[in-house]
Amino acid sequence: MKIIIGGDHSSVALKEAIGDYIKKNYKFKVKDIGTHKNDSVDYPDYGYKIAQEVAKGSADRGIVICGTGIGISIAANKVKGIRAAMCYDAYTAIMSRKHNDANVLAIGARTTLLENALIIVDLWLKTEFEGGRHQKRVELLNSYPSR
Ligand code: RB5
Repeated sequence: MKIIIGGDHSSVALKEAIGDYIKKNYKFKVKDIGTHKNDSVDYPDYGYKIAQEVAKGSADRGIVICGTGIGISIAANKVKGIRAAMCYDAYTAIMSRKHNDANVLAIGARTTLLENALIIVDLWLKTEFEGGRHQKRVELLNSYPSR
């Protein structure tokens, strides 16, 4: 599996920790598109770019990080076929996969402790989509035009 990860200036330390964690524990390929510095950048650019990569299939899943995870999830959800979920605990991480088949995970760097973020990532990577009655709902999500 190939994971693409990125975020704004608030994300740098957490993003690197998450990337290292995934590479060490999953042996997945991780592509980090930055930002790599603490200089202020605009989170929509990162969320949108990552979503585009996932939508076109150059990555299987994306992880996007900004201060709260909110802005960057909004940006990612602008891309058709993307179901970005802002997860803040184990339950939301599990349910975003089981019911929503989320293909992008959004995390808040300023709202999530590292230990919790790694639990969220772990559960989000491991949990499978349940399908069944949720399949039709995901298809409905995919059917709505972006604009
Ligand atoms: C940047 O200061 C901050 O607004 C951003 O990281 C994010 O929290 C937006 O939703």
